[in-house]
Amino acid sequence: MKYTTLKKTDIQISTLGLGTNAVGGHNLYNRLDEEDGKHMVRAALDHGVTFLDTADVYGEGRSEELIGEVLKDYGRNQYVIATKGGSDWRTNSKNNDPAYMRQALEDSLERLQLDYVDLYYIHWPDGKTPIRESVAELAKLRDEGKIRAIGVSNVSLAQLKEANAEDDVNAVQLAYHMLNREIEKDILPYCVENDISIIAYGPLAFGLLGGKYTKELKLPEGDFRRGLPLFQEGEFEKNLAIVEELKKVADKKGTDLSNLALAWLLAQPGVDAVIPGGKKPEQVKSNLTAANIQLSEEDLAEIATIL
Ligand SMILES: NC(=O)c1ccc[n+]([C@@H]2O[C@H](COP(=O)([O-])OP(=O)(O)OC[C@H]3O[C@@H](n4cnc5c(N)ncnc54)[C@H](OP(=O)(O)O)[C@@H]3O)[C@@H](O)[C@H]2O)c1
Repeated sequence: MKYTTLKKTDIQISTLGLGTNAVGGHNLYNRLDEEDGKHMVRAALDHGVTFLDTADVYGEGRSEELIGEVLKDYGRNQYVIATKGGSDWRTNSKNNDPAYMRQALEDSLERLQLDYVDLYYIHWPDGKTPIRESVAELAKLRDEGKIRAIGVSNVSLAQLKEANAEDDVNAVQLAYHMLNREIEKDILPYCVENDISIIAYGPLAFGLLGGKYTKELKLPEGDFRRGLPLFQEGEFEKNLAIVEELKKVADKKGTDLSNLALAWLLAQPGVDAVIPGGKKPEQVKSNLTAANIQLSEEDLAEIATIL
């Protein structure tokens, strides 16, 4: 495992974190058994992961509760716990109002059974609260010792600039993977210039870069991926063709596609961590071996040509 530091903090994180969207049976995923979810978290912590990513909305609070249960057996201080607030699943709406954010954090701390979280993100801009007002509240929470670092997620460049002008943003969490390089246009260079950690979510293109999907894939009713452009008819087939080419590069490197995809992200400027999710402990363990893969200039050039 490799470790790095969240920008403008002394918080050390493993570059391979664990995404826990599925832990607790997120209603947008196939329901994952709760014990299986806890096994995944344990598998990660047992193999060097120190960076756990959750959110209040994951499993409607259950993801945080299950992580809290696991942490009781592991001790707290050597782990970096990131969570998010500002998406209210009870009303199916977004709310970044400062008072709401404060209450959402308090609720998360209770579910996690913690006194503080290391990194707290505004999950989604709500389209009405100026982001500087929500960040100002997060800065107060930091000064009170309830969070250690400020994060934003799913922001535009303009929102990120406004947030970072209010107070130091330490991390931004965005969708970034081989099949979606949108952030390279403007947000990524801004983060590099302004010392903000990029945490890449959906690093395996929500399973597509796991390399096992075929044209026959049928996502179950209610699976959120049915709404993603990546999985739409036409796009999906194109992506499968890219996947086949990328697999050849992985073969040459003696690895598999998922490891190649994670190593590629970690080779990009500004990316301090990736947070792959999983449904099985074996997937989690396998993803962690990506930390050992070094991509040469030639490898990166070959991948760039394919992408
Ligand atoms: N900030 C946000 O708004 C936001 C949004 C989405 C996600 N996130 C965070 O990002 C994390 C990761 O995103 P994600 O879990 O949705 O997508 P992902 O990491 O891109 O893909 C995860 C899926 O890939 C498959 N997979 C994982 N490891 C594999 C392996 N070694 N080999 C083959 N297939 C493998 C599994 O699906 P199958 O077994 O079904 O193929 C798994 O559920 C989330 O858990 C969450 O913490 C944040």
